[in-house]
Amino acid sequence: MVLPEHIAVIMDGNGRWAQRRMLPRAAGHRAGMKRMLSLTEHIFGLGIPYCTLFALSAENLSRPKEELDELFELIRIYFTEQIGPLRRAGIALRVVGDCMLLPAATRKVIEEGVRAASDGAKGTLALAIGYGGRQDIVSAAEKLAEAGAQITLESFRESLSTGGMPAVDLLIRTGKEKRLSNFLLFESAYAELVFSDKLFPDFTCRDLDRALSEYAKRERRYGKIET
Ligand code: IPE
Ligand code: IPE
Ligand code: MG
Repeated sequence: MVLPEHIAVIMDGNGRWAQRRMLPRAAGHRAGMKRMLSLTEHIFGLGIPYCTLFALSAENLSRPKEELDELFELIRIYFTEQIGPLRRAGIALRVVGDCMLLPAATRKVIEEGVRAASDGAKGTLALAIGYGGRQDIVSAAEKLAEAGAQITLESFRESLSTGGMPAVDLLIRTGKEKRLSNFLLFESAYAELVFSDKLFPDFTCRDLDRALSEYAKRERRYGKIET
């Protein structure tokens, strides 16, 4: 079966998962984080080398303070508890997005975690935190303009916060919505899209396998025709 080289997931639906159970939204985010751990293990176990997960958008930072505090706490827990297992698995960890949008304490935990992560012989996990695709495109343009560098597709791609990673092959969104919500706009130009109605905490490794077999059946043409 043809596997994607780069899989990206919009992990949506945590809040609704909790609301359906009459639980606070934070409970949904905790369940989502548990799910994220098993899915990433599964993804790298299959030998897929690049995975980008949408954890928190720049726009999500306008949510109420109580929800954000819970999310920052989960980020802290993730970065303190998961660096060891990722290191042992040979997975590099990077963060894409604008960390300056985050509280200083969260930023510090993220920076320390990323520094302590491995060089990624087995794969690279990118977490999108404080991320916005349009913002990232503007900041890549700014970087190139400041350096007086030539703007080409290649130089532009390398100046994005995902620089060094290949284009997205498969983009999965859970939680029923069929939109990109400002995720990896440039990088997903020719990504195959798979939408799942399942809320993220209910999205299992089997559901991921189903998305992968759907991907394997797609014919990727990149605008060309068979000759
Ligand atoms: C996705 O779940 C996680 C974040 C955006 C942080 P949501 O919190 O958007 O969950 P719903 O869409 O409200 O159910
Ligand atoms: C996208 O979900 C962001 C993440 C999953 C982190 P949102 O819940 O923020 O997207 P919208 O508001 O439904 O477009
Ligand atoms: Mg949502």
